[in-house]
Amino acid sequence: MTEFHLSQIRLEGRITMEQLKIEKMRQFYDLFPYPNRPIFVSPKLDAQLTAHGGFLMMLSKGRTILAEKIWFLSSKYKHSNIKISKEEFLPVYNEMIEIFPNTKRILLVGCGTDEPLLFRKLHPENEIIAMDLSRKAIQKAKKKLAFHTILNVFWNQKTFKKIEFLLGNAEMILKEKAIGKFDYIQCFGVLHHQPDPTGILLAISQKLNENGVLRLMIYSFHGRKLERRIQNRYSGTWDSFLQKKGFKFHIVIKYFQLRVWQFFNFIGFFRSTFERFRYLGPGSASVADALMHPSDPGFSLSYFQEQAQQFGLELVYCEGKLENEGYVNGFENPFLVWNKIIEADKKQELLTNPILIFRKANKVEQQI
Ligand SMILES: C[S@@+](CC[C@H](N)C(=O)[O-])C[C@H]1O[C@@H](n2cnc3c(N)ncnc32)[C@H](O)[C@@H]1O
Repeated sequence: MTEFHLSQIRLEGRITMEQLKIEKMRQFYDLFPYPNRPIFVSPKLDAQLTAHGGFLMMLSKGRTILAEKIWFLSSKYKHSNIKISKEEFLPVYNEMIEIFPNTKRILLVGCGTDEPLLFRKLHPENEIIAMDLSRKAIQKAKKKLAFHTILNVFWNQKTFKKIEFLLGNAEMILKEKAIGKFDYIQCFGVLHHQPDPTGILLAISQKLNENGVLRLMIYSFHGRKLERRIQNRYSGTWDSFLQKKGFKFHIVIKYFQLRVWQFFNFIGFFRSTFERFRYLGPGSASVADALMHPSDPGFSLSYFQEQAQQFGLELVYCEGKLENEGYVNGFENPFLVWNKIIEADKKQELLTNPILIFRKANKVEQQI
């Protein structure tokens, strides 16, 4: 496992503000790995078909009718628990693996505790590299994979193919380490925490093969104003992280206070905040991630899309849930839907964090 962090920065003799912010975030995710679902919980593949490389490749190649069908099957399962029948599933799945065969390489940037297992189950034979800043997150991801490998041997007499894990700041790893290029990069819930989101987005775009696909999830901006106000209450404590003495103790005390507050909100005690807490659920990782995060300054939604475009990434799809319309999906005209999502965010009517899918344009297209 490769490691890039503070000790290495210190060797270079100078610590910048950006490196301190990254180090603070590492401390945070070591204390509160995300999403940290119980080890025995396995991702439901039927609900996650839209994370499959085949779905993304279809969008990138303009096969939107089939992609739309996959989205509806998957969301029927996710939102109404309606199972996908074998007759419906098999032809669609075969198309997905034909368009995204097992020779394609996958990279998970900021993989957290659960993404590696999901991607291994979606893509049993593909090469997967997963990177994260937090040692704890990687340890948990590995344990989860090992546990489900045993189950897989037991039920299907098959082990899971290994995943390579890289520990450290993704931007540095992507720039410094010879890991080759990828056909599919997933970066979910990571960009908006970076001191320099543009740097990491550029590094990601440079690691994509021509016609490779990128799946991004970014936070809504206006909808998270309350979260950012609450995060400010904890920022002083996080700022003291370099004076090791007492830092963790103070964070843990504040965290327990937050959990008590979460409980009273959850039972409807505080009118102004209880809906937000309901939305976060009773989990410990999600409430810490949303409300105690030390580095979530907030970026406008248009910022990421515009940057991506400058790096030769073409928007091929986006989705979000709006208060008045429900889910909106950019199968046919992603830019139109993206503008709708941005407008809804301004009015605080965007109910989910949006997902964007990009295709790396080839060199000729980039020059035009
Ligand atoms: C909100 S969690 C998302 C985890 C996972 N992608 C998911 O959606 O379940 C953000 C993850 O990104 C990792 N992370 C944040 N900044 C990073 C960076 N610069 N390099 C590598 N990992 C990073 C954190 O350690 C954390 O595990």
